[in-house]
Amino acid sequence: MKNLNIFQKRRERFFELLSGNAAIIPAASLVVHHADCEYPFRQNSDFWYLTGFDEPNAVALFLPHFPIGERFILFVMPKQISAEIWTGFRWGVEGAQTNFGADIAHSIEELEDFLPRYLEKADGISFRVGKNPKLEAIVLKTWSSLLNDSSRKGYAPAQLLPPCPLLHQLRLKKDKWEIASLRKAAEITSKAHELARATAKPGMFEKQIQALIEHYFLDQGARGPAYGSIVASGENACILHYVSNQSQLRGGDLLLIDAGCSTNDYYNADITRTFPISGSFSSEQRNLYQIVLAAQQAAIKSVVTGSTTDTVHMSALRVLVEGLLDLGLLKGNIDSIIEQGAYRHFYMHRTGHWLGLDVHDAGAYRLGDYEVELEKGMVLTVEPGLYISDFVEVPEDQPEVPERWKGIGIRIEDDVLVDESFPEVLTSGALKEIKDMEN
Ligand code: GLY
Ligand code: MN
Ligand code: MN
Repeated sequence: MKNLNIFQKRRERFFELLSGNAAIIPAASLVVHHADCEYPFRQNSDFWYLTGFDEPNAVALFLPHFPIGERFILFVMPKQISAEIWTGFRWGVEGAQTNFGADIAHSIEELEDFLPRYLEKADGISFRVGKNPKLEAIVLKTWSSLLNDSSRKGYAPAQLLPPCPLLHQLRLKKDKWEIASLRKAAEITSKAHELARATAKPGMFEKQIQALIEHYFLDQGARGPAYGSIVASGENACILHYVSNQSQLRGGDLLLIDAGCSTNDYYNADITRTFPISGSFSSEQRNLYQIVLAAQQAAIKSVVTGSTTDTVHMSALRVLVEGLLDLGLLKGNIDSIIEQGAYRHFYMHRTGHWLGLDVHDAGAYRLGDYEVELEKGMVLTVEPGLYISDFVEVPEDQPEVPERWKGIGIRIEDDVLVDESFPEVLTSGALKEIKDMEN
């Protein structure tokens, strides 16, 4: 299937869900890094999912109340050679129609003029408030003037509602093109982790391992890292989002690497591996690693249709708590420890998240009291960990932590595709058994 048709199919499904409401979905904007330098452009995932258009300063309209052939409108930066010499190629108005399937395209400068006529007969306006102040001002002004005119015209959009619940419901179940891209991201990332483990030696710096991994991502055709790569040796691993990566690797410590690449079409991998820098675990490290690995394996087993992310989390949590009880790092009854959260000084995050165009991907985990059930085509991470930090307060009725356990941080994270009969671990190319972690 041609690329254009993939996006068109998604738009058709979105139109069905919108019923008579017109949706306004903006592209991402460029963000200032400092002075007049900007961060590399990263398209908004909702906008990308529906358009495949990779430029800033664009807005897409989805108008289900218009006839087929007049429903998908793109406002884009017009072609302008003098600007393109500085910032690069633009598709322009014509390119938006011929290459991205827009029924009609306009210059972004004409948005305010055209918006009233596109929106006036919609039942409602589907637009996410609070994210894009400039566009929000235009949308609200337009809606207000349509409401002012409604007593004479006889119509105006009657409601403002968020597009996210509908759109994110679509994004939650991946189509075969998305699964192919996620596989690609998983494959490149798995190999990068293998390379990192083979290379890391005492005396190297965390930054060097980061450079190695990110070089591999780019070399293999990825867009780059999906998020700030975490290369955390020793006690740095107890900082969940450690990204400074400045320390020197010491023999005897573990190295936790949480890094993933993003493909050119923005699909992400998210893998964590933890291994001994000198090639063999201490007995404390091995004990904790075995518990995290067993917790992860139990949780992955529960990634089947009809299960929920809560079940996945609870499967991992029980194994972690049981293991900590056996080691004497927790005391008491397993159910009351879980109920009271008396394990949270060692395990303070959930066991995973949806994965897709966003690393923490769109889609509800709960709808009111209902836990969203896993369905074929959903992708999630499974990432239990244990962090024996010196800083975290031990709950009153729990044992103090003996020194020999302190400063050990372990997480094991894989990306898993839900299938009917068995979970498919997309990232199985990154090894994790104890025998593979030691040499
Ligand atoms: N790398 C972010 C996460 O694991 O959720
Ligand atoms: Mn993750
Ligand atoms: Mn991660």
